[in-house]
Amino acid sequence: MRVLGIETSCDETAAAVVTGDRRILSNCVVSQLAEHAPFGGVVPEVAARAHIAHLPGVVTRALAEAACGMAGVDAVAATCGPGLIGGVMVGSVLGKAIAAARDVPFVPVNHLEAHALTARLTDGIAFPYLLLLVSGGHTQILEVRGVGAYRLLGQTLDDAAGECLDKSAKVMGLEQPGGPAVERLAAEARDGGVFVLPRPMRGRPGCDFSFSGLKTAVRIAAEGLPKARAAMAPLARALQDAVAEVLADRCGQALNATGASTLVAAGGVAANGAVRAALGALPARFVAPPPALCGDNAAMVAWAGTERLRAGLVEAHSLSVPARPRWPL
Ligand code: KG4
Ligand code: ZN
Repeated sequence: MRVLGIETSCDETAAAVVTGDRRILSNCVVSQLAEHAPFGGVVPEVAARAHIAHLPGVVTRALAEAACGMAGVDAVAATCGPGLIGGVMVGSVLGKAIAAARDVPFVPVNHLEAHALTARLTDGIAFPYLLLLVSGGHTQILEVRGVGAYRLLGQTLDDAAGECLDKSAKVMGLEQPGGPAVERLAAEARDGGVFVLPRPMRGRPGCDFSFSGLKTAVRIAAEGLPKARAAMAPLARALQDAVAEVLADRCGQALNATGASTLVAAGGVAANGAVRAALGALPARFVAPPPALCGDNAAMVAWAGTERLRAGLVEAHSLSVPARPRWPL
């Protein structure tokens, strides 16, 4: 089985072809970084128009690289939410159109479920497992029992970890997306220097997170610093250390509470080396997709579609499933 996946929920326009036996035949991503750079963040209307401009070419390229063409695709999966509604509409409408024209099943995919199942594509791991989903829009810990079977154990009470990194990068004068920029700058410092940043929620019962206080602490510290890389590097390191430590603390709580033996990380922030090291030190088998498949991509959407089809979880009227800005797992 070959599934074409389409991802347009934020600022990456992506298409991929994945096989039922876990081979990624193509995985094409066009980032809209340049389009949003003048505004200092992702502008939903700009994103929707950029998806319209880029998506036909990206889908054509994904099919060509997979050497299968439209006729070689057995199903089409597209992100139908959650995300920026204009972009989600662009990707899901094109996916539905291709599926209808080819008379193959259309699978509406929840973007969070696609992140949640990526480690099964990359590492073939079995259910159940504990999942840390940590991205620009979400920070949550879930128990993944099967396809479509998720239990929320904890989530952020305010900002997502990626949001904290992106906003902190902005006040530190770094480029977007902030997470990778913070990681690169942190590598230039031996340690966090004089900066003592808070570890919100560390040691508290439960598995919830909070990142807005950390973000504020970084802003206050950055305001007093010269905007030179050498001055900012220890602050970037201190921020990265705090994020990694808090994520690991909360996952440690979740491992204790559930007795789970496998911890999986997913989402853009899971690409961070310090975060991966901190999670890898916990008493569990730790699995994280390669960094390129942690952030938004269409291979994960094609794979989630494959899993849903196999589990018989695709609605009969899937072409009428709407695009949703909010869609909790
Ligand atoms: O999963 P993702 O690509 O999009 C969402 O669904 O949000 O995650 C994007 C987030 C951004 O906040 C970005 O700064 C962060 O992931 N990120 C990183 C790294 N790469 C991406 N954060 C820390 N270290 C990285 N290497
Ligand atoms: Zn994402």
